Amino acid sequence: MLILGIESSCDETACAVVDANDATVDVKSDIVATQIATHALYGGVVPEIASRAHTEAITNVASRALTDAGVTMADIDAVAVTNRPGLIGALLVGVSFAKACALTHSKPLIAVNHIKAHTAAVYAENPGLVPSYISLVVSGGHTSLYSVTDFVTFNEIGGTRDDAAGEAFDKAARVMGLKYPGGREMDRLAGIGFEKYTKRELIKLPSPALAGDTLDFSFSGIKTAAVNHIHNVRQKLGLAPEDPFPEDEAALVAASFTYAVIHGIADKLGSALRQTGTKTAVMAGGVAANSHLRRAVAKECGKCGAALYVPKPSLCGDNGVMVALQGYREYCAGNIADTSLNAYAD
Ligand code: KG4
Ligand code: ZN
Repeated sequence: MLILGIESSCDETACAVVDANDATVDVKSDIVATQIATHALYGGVVPEIASRAHTEAITNVASRALTDAGVTMADIDAVAVTNRPGLIGALLVGVSFAKACALTHSKPLIAVNHIKAHTAAVYAENPGLVPSYISLVVSGGHTSLYSVTDFVTFNEIGGTRDDAAGEAFDKAARVMGLKYPGGREMDRLAGIGFEKYTKRELIKLPSPALAGDTLDFSFSGIKTAAVNHIHNVRQKLGLAPEDPFPEDEAALVAASFTYAVIHGIADKLGSALRQTGTKTAVMAGGVAANSHLRRAVAKECGKCGAALYVPKPSLCGDNGVMVALQGYREYCAGNIADTSLNAYAD
C-alpha cells in the first residue's frame, strides 16, 4: 500500500511516499526541508521559529513528495504523521496538515510515535526484518533501549536519566565554537583525533553508562567534564571566548568524548542483549549516523553473537520515510486515528 509519511516534530519538515507491504519496501520519494541554517543563528532549535518554518514549508514539501513519487493524493492509501514526542508547536503543524489531507481525500489517518518511526527506518533496506529485537534509539532527544516484541509494541528497558547523546555531542561542539548542530562535525574531528592520538593520550572522561546491571545512561557528567576541559584549555592558551578553538585540541576533545560515549552506549546495548537473550539489535536515530558509534556497536553485537541492523546515514536523521514505514505497521495492527487526533510533547 502507498503511504504518505509526514514528519515535523523538531527542525526538519519531511514528507515521503513509500510503497510498503509485509515483504517489500519501495521508497518512491523522500523530501526533507531542514531548518538548520535558521536555528544555527541561535545555537539551537527555537521552538516558535520551528513551528512557523514548518507552516511555511509543509505544503510544498508534501507536494514535492507526491510529484517525485509520480502520484497524486488519489493514489495514496493512508496518511501517517508523527504526533509524539517532540516540540508541541512543531508537531501540531504536521498533525493538522495530515488531518486536513486525510479528511479532504477520505484517506485513513495514522498516528506515529517518533521513536518507533526512527526504528522503522531500518525496514527501508531490511523489509524482511521481523521483531522481536532490541532497539537502541540515539538522537538529539533520546538515548533509550527498547525490547520490541512486535512491530508496534516497544517496552523501554533503559534510558537516559538526564541529557540525550545528541544533546551532549551538540553541547561539547558548541562550547568549542563548532557549527550547529555539532554531531556531524564531532564525528569528523574524532576521526582526526583517533589518527593523531593514542588511546592513552585521550582525555579521561566519565562514561555515560551507569555502573551496575541497570541499562540506564547519564550524559551530564561527561558533558560537564568536557566543557570544563575546553574552558581550561582556552584559559591555558590565553584565548578569548570569541577566539576559535585550535583544531588539534578540538580533535583531542572530539576523540576523547566520542571514545567514552561509543563504548558506554555499546556496553549497555551488549548488556541488554545478554540480559534478554535477544540475538537481534537495531540502532537508529540521528546519532546512529556516527561512524565511530556504528563500528563500536557492530563490534559489540559481534561479541554477543547478535545481528545488527542500522539504517543508512541519510535515514538516521528525521525523515518522512520512517514515518510512512511505521505508519504501515500501525495500519496493519488496526491503529487508525480518528478526527480528534492531537499532538503530545512526550
Ligand atoms: O534524530 P534526530 O535527527 O533528531 C531528534 O529526533 O532528536 O537527531 C539529531 C541529533 C543531533 O543532536 C545531531 O547533532 C546528531 O543527531 N547527529 C550526530 C551525527 N549526525 C547527527 N551525532 C553524532 N555523530 C553524527 N555523525
Ligand atoms: Zn528524531
